[in-house]
Amino acid sequence: MRLSMTSDLWWKNAVVYCLDIETFADGNGDGIGDFRGAIQRIDHLDRMGVTCIWLMPFFPTPDKDDGYDITDFYNVDPRLGTLGDFVEFMRVAGDRGIRVIADLVVNHTSDQHPWFKDARSSRDSRYRDWYIWSDKPEPDDPGGIVFPDEEDSLWEYDEKTEQYYFHRFYRFQPDLNTANHEVQDEISRILGFWMELGLSGFRVDAVPFLIEQVTDSDDLPDPHEFFACLRAFLSRRDGSAILLGEVNLPYDDLVRYFGNDLGDEITMCFDFITMQRTYLSLARQDAGPLAAALRERPAPPKDSQWATFVRNHDELTLDKLNDAEREEVFAAFGPDKDMQLFGRGLRRRVPTMLGGDMDRIKMVYSLLFSLPGTPVLFYGEEIGMGENLELEGRQAVRTPMQWTPHRNGGFSDADPSKVRIPMPTGEYGPEKVNVSAQERDPDSLLSWITRLIRHYRDCPEFAWGDYTVLDTGVDAVFAHRADCDGETVVAVHNLGETEAEVEITLDGLDSSKVLTDLLVDGTVEISGDGRARFPMGRYGCRWFRASTPETAPADSADVS
Ligand code: NOJ
Repeated sequence: MRLSMTSDLWWKNAVVYCLDIETFADGNGDGIGDFRGAIQRIDHLDRMGVTCIWLMPFFPTPDKDDGYDITDFYNVDPRLGTLGDFVEFMRVAGDRGIRVIADLVVNHTSDQHPWFKDARSSRDSRYRDWYIWSDKPEPDDPGGIVFPDEEDSLWEYDEKTEQYYFHRFYRFQPDLNTANHEVQDEISRILGFWMELGLSGFRVDAVPFLIEQVTDSDDLPDPHEFFACLRAFLSRRDGSAILLGEVNLPYDDLVRYFGNDLGDEITMCFDFITMQRTYLSLARQDAGPLAAALRERPAPPKDSQWATFVRNHDELTLDKLNDAEREEVFAAFGPDKDMQLFGRGLRRRVPTMLGGDMDRIKMVYSLLFSLPGTPVLFYGEEIGMGENLELEGRQAVRTPMQWTPHRNGGFSDADPSKVRIPMPTGEYGPEKVNVSAQERDPDSLLSWITRLIRHYRDCPEFAWGDYTVLDTGVDAVFAHRADCDGETVVAVHNLGETEAEVEITLDGLDSSKVLTDLLVDGTVEISGDGRARFPMGRYGCRWFRASTPETAPADSADVS
């Protein structure tokens, strides 16, 4: 057994699946997803090979920002169930060996949170200093306004107490003052509460904003001390619990959030840079941008990890590309203004962006599962769900999960008029795209992703190993190898629509080994000087393991 397979660093090669209880499955027939419904569907995730569920916010909320506006950090929104249902969900997931993490949204609260209501009732409120107040709005950095469609300032005037409060996001999400020790203690209490109920960690919302210096008078904790303390608290309670951080920053700034050489802060950070460059590569059918991103990417501390993804619940942000690059991706994958959002992203899902080309879609997920890091899927990706552009903003990609071709796509038994968020219709409607049909079809995307997950788990080298981007001699073809514990795996992806013949050189390997195909039957010989040559189909993907051939290869393979 290879060392990495027996390790307790479970997050290093986890398969994380993000879902929103509200849109996953409705167990009580009221048209809204709930914990009872989700419990019934955990076996779907188990069959796929998911090892960790990330629950989007399920706490009491006025729901003006899809639950990211919280009014009680210690409860379950009554629309979604009860604490009892939550515990039952945890039990069933645990029974299948699936860990659960949840969003930790403590950069801000809802303006309806009792703390904020109290804080704005008087300047003498006990909670006044839990938020950030100023007599005059500080100058706004327009680039710092996260939702420019609805906000033009980061400060909102409060008539009663005649001061402005700070809100990094919408005006109904006042920022908590994390410089306040009581707020810091409360954040730990929130973590502790949910860990007692079995969570294995948290996806930390808006990490850089959590500790940002807003006014000159802010006495903020050192950001790294803040996260190191949080992580230390977490680890004291459960040494295997993780923080998965939303840190969309350039690599040099980003890597600091992992903490010291031992990785004592955020355990895993989403790799927004590789994600964005992947789309540029796909648009250009040129592996260059992706290869450059991975070559630039700093190595995380030993026990830390990158989280890789191709889609999440927000707009597909392209904010780290330059204007011309972003326009290229827009032109390729979302040319209509209506498909774009905030001038920086796309509100589409992967299959529609790729014109429904199943070979290309499958190649993208093969790439995702082979990239160095821990892959994170957004619900519905496994069946190739599309978006509903009739819905406002980011809601387009947050439609209910499509389980069957039947009423409400099997999401709910309710009268369709009660299902608040309409699913896509036509080619991407539940009649065409659903779990039950794809479970029966060995060529479906669901079957493909299930296979990819199996191979990804069988090849911990991809997640754990030292990786090297390889030259292929063909612009459109991206290849990388990963080495760990004396084993080598190689993945090759053709981002282009034309077939190609590629040649890679594998330093340290020679004709005593062959490359054994993992996704199909086949082998490729390696020459005495480590070269391997093979064909790649249109949008083709091949995963190999370097292994000792069953029959001795010819002295030198013909790769001249
Ligand atoms: C980041 C989340 O991903 C997004 O959905 C949310 O609107 C903001 N944080 C504010 O919480």
